[in-house]
Amino acid sequence: MLGNFTYCNPTKLYFGKDALNGLNAELPKYGKNVLLVYGGGSIKKNGIYDKVVALLKANGKEIYEDAGVMPNPTVEKLYEGVERARKANADLILAVGGGSVCDYAKAVSVSVHCDEDPWEKYFIRFEEPSCETLPVGCVLTMVGTGSEMNGGSVITNHKAKLKIGHVFAYEKIFPRFSILNPEFTYTLPRYQMIAGFYDIMSHILEQYFSGTDDNTSDYIMEGLLRSLIHSALVASENPTDYEARSNIMWTATWALNTLIAKGKDTDWEVHMLGQAVGAITDATHGMTLAAVSMPYYRMIMPYGLPKFKRYAINVWGIDPAGKTDEKIAEEGLAAMEDWMKKLGLVMNISDLGANEGMLDDLTEATLIMQGGYKVLTKEDVRAIFKASL
Ligand code: NZQ
Ligand code: ZN
Repeated sequence: MLGNFTYCNPTKLYFGKDALNGLNAELPKYGKNVLLVYGGGSIKKNGIYDKVVALLKANGKEIYEDAGVMPNPTVEKLYEGVERARKANADLILAVGGGSVCDYAKAVSVSVHCDEDPWEKYFIRFEEPSCETLPVGCVLTMVGTGSEMNGGSVITNHKAKLKIGHVFAYEKIFPRFSILNPEFTYTLPRYQMIAGFYDIMSHILEQYFSGTDDNTSDYIMEGLLRSLIHSALVASENPTDYEARSNIMWTATWALNTLIAKGKDTDWEVHMLGQAVGAITDATHGMTLAAVSMPYYRMIMPYGLPKFKRYAINVWGIDPAGKTDEKIAEEGLAAMEDWMKKLGLVMNISDLGANEGMLDDLTEATLIMQGGYKVLTKEDVRAIFKASL
């Protein structure tokens, strides 16, 4: 392991069927005014809203609501949320939902006491907050992003055709606590559920396919991947299999809570390609990643052959006997592609609303990262989108 680092993850987790009771331990730590942030209403249909409100009331809280956070939260919604948080004089932001709601809560947190335009400050200039921030707690209802235990916040600006994630380093932006009850995710539509599974896969691979040093994190990632691959197939057949859903929820958190990135290089190019698709089509995050992954990995495989060979053998169980390294690596990617198709993931950006006429905008919107096995050219980026049409 070659890198130097400092490690601290300040988020306290409550996990399991009784996890929501953790609110009784956490809520007394904060002032009276709670901004309850949620999405388009799934939590009202599945009863999570009623349970959360009952606990807030039992703990003597004044509840101010900020509903309607959309998937891929927009900058316009962020401005609205900041006003709501100011009017409520909020002491705590309680985010009840998926990654979009958690990300949005963090963006509001850093913007409430900020005099500057938050889009410019945090998502264009990537500055850290220079003002007071509000504490955020999460009740997670959709698994995939890892937002429940990291400092990431992704905001979409449709006018600028940009979807940008800021991973805040400042520890106070991490949720102070997160409630993880796997049963809260049972009501997810199948499309969202499997999109989340692939988001987890992609988070791990973005950190795995980078660097050449012998690194403990790579061994941890191989274990996480094997658990995910197995549990996703079980959950795909039986979405209420608690064992599979709980394993997946826990894997998602570890896939992106900063641990496995420590001491190593990381890539994140698949997310840059996927975010470009998201900025232009507003498609579901995990599906945008699935649609660009195979052309990307097939393009970079020759440049990182030893790692792709290791991936094939250690993660997919490919038998290396009598095969060239290329053949082993290709079989690993083919096994991954089969798994993706078995789950029913979207494999083409045209199925997400993209078309040939969007290739220039997609290419323009894609940031090029430096940490992968091949630094892409703009022609490479275009070729990947074209192959994914
Ligand atoms: O809005 P509601 O009605 O709640 O419906 C949501 C939404 O339509 C629904 N849903 C969530 N929980 C449900 C449920 N429906 C039924 N039952 C439940 N229990 O699912 C839909 C998608 O929710 P969303 O929060 O958008 O999904 P996800 O968790 O995938 O979050 C996506 C956002 O996170 C960002 C993405 O870019 C995207 O904007 N990311 C954040 C990251 C981070 N913070 O580190 C990293 C990721 O790579 C990602 O970029
Ligand atoms: Zn992701």
